[in-house]
Amino acid sequence: MATLDLKQIRKTYPKAAQETLKGIDISIESGEFLILVGPSGCGKSTLMNTIAGLEDISSGHIVIDGREVSQVEPKDRDIAMVFQSYALYPNMTVYGNIAFGLKIRKMADKEINAEVQRVAKMLQIDHLLDRKPSQLSGGQRQRVAMGRALARRPKLYLFDEPLSNLDAKLRVEMRHQIKRLHQQLNTTIVYVTHDQIEAMTLADRIAVMKDGEVQQLGTPNEIYATPNNMFVASFMGSPSMNFIREVVCLSAEKQPFIEVHDHAGAKQRLMLPSWLAEHANREIVIGLRPEHITCELNHLDNESAIEPSISLSLDVLEPTGPDTIAMFSLNGEEVACRLAPDFVAQTGQVVPLKFDMTKAVFFDASSELRLSAG
Ligand SMILES: Nc1ncnc2c1ncn2[C@@H]1O[C@H](COP(=O)(O)OP(=O)(O)O)[C@@H](O)[C@H]1O
Ligand SMILES: [Mg+2]
Repeated sequence: MATLDLKQIRKTYPKAAQETLKGIDISIESGEFLILVGPSGCGKSTLMNTIAGLEDISSGHIVIDGREVSQVEPKDRDIAMVFQSYALYPNMTVYGNIAFGLKIRKMADKEINAEVQRVAKMLQIDHLLDRKPSQLSGGQRQRVAMGRALARRPKLYLFDEPLSNLDAKLRVEMRHQIKRLHQQLNTTIVYVTHDQIEAMTLADRIAVMKDGEVQQLGTPNEIYATPNNMFVASFMGSPSMNFIREVVCLSAEKQPFIEVHDHAGAKQRLMLPSWLAEHANREIVIGLRPEHITCELNHLDNESAIEPSISLSLDVLEPTGPDTIAMFSLNGEEVACRLAPDFVAQTGQVVPLKFDMTKAVFFDASSELRLSAG
């Protein structure tokens, strides 16, 4: 277990036109599971490689357990790394692959054996120790690669999209296993993924990166419920957060609202929290997750039973199994709503929708930063 402090990490590749890492600051606690997410090319792997020492940094500090390691050789940083494309030694057995790093460290045979048995058991590959990699399934090979890293008990684990070559079912299995491992070993882990579910379920904290910068660092819930800006809001969550761009109006009672058009083109008021009164006459972006737009009717034969709502006409219905995504058009923008799986309606049918504005977040339309009360 170790702490990891990244301080103002900058990296420009030789001959590159621009900086790849533009001053990354992240402090990771001992035993913490930190997940890095961000679009392809934003610098996640570069950051991992600089932590491991496989790439130099242009400036900044990498501090593991209080010790500056920026100039320390990779092998002396006490880090284990698992990549997306893991290479096992093809002519060694599973045992040999897991034991390899320990042999290099000149550990005694008896200790090596105990260590290989320990990790093999933990990863449930103890019955495969005599096999060669070619005799294993993809998931088993991935577990061997993981075992090779785990056998070392390093201070820090780095995982760079370790599951992205696996099929969906296996990924879920491995995800559970990684979570259990972390709970058992309580190790410090930095983990890159582009899979949102992986990020939300595994992370203690998530760092969302874009163009070599950290956009937000927070718990999964903070990232999901209170994104710092529209980029983070739209990056996390599927379907994406809905954005409704409108000018804030004030009612006669000075209550802020926006005007929306229902299915018949009639103007309706969508009331906003009162603190938004200070943004009157300015354009804002209202962010609402699909699950915060609901319809309490599953069958539209009992419309009188519900409270006032805004009626929109259904564009598309996408049943996903556990829920059904319904698409509507609101003020010319497409909005997605997550409805009950047994929701039934035809395209063009008018559906009364409720907007839970207590869950909405609000952004400045030009800076795209989240607005907050006070
Ligand atoms: N060895 C390299 N030399 C020059 N540019 C590189 C090198 N590796 C990565 N890059 C560039 O750095 C940027 C970030 O890449 P990378 O860290 O691999 O992103 P990610 O892992 O987030 O997809 C990309 O623009 C990529 O082209
Ligand atoms: Mg990468």
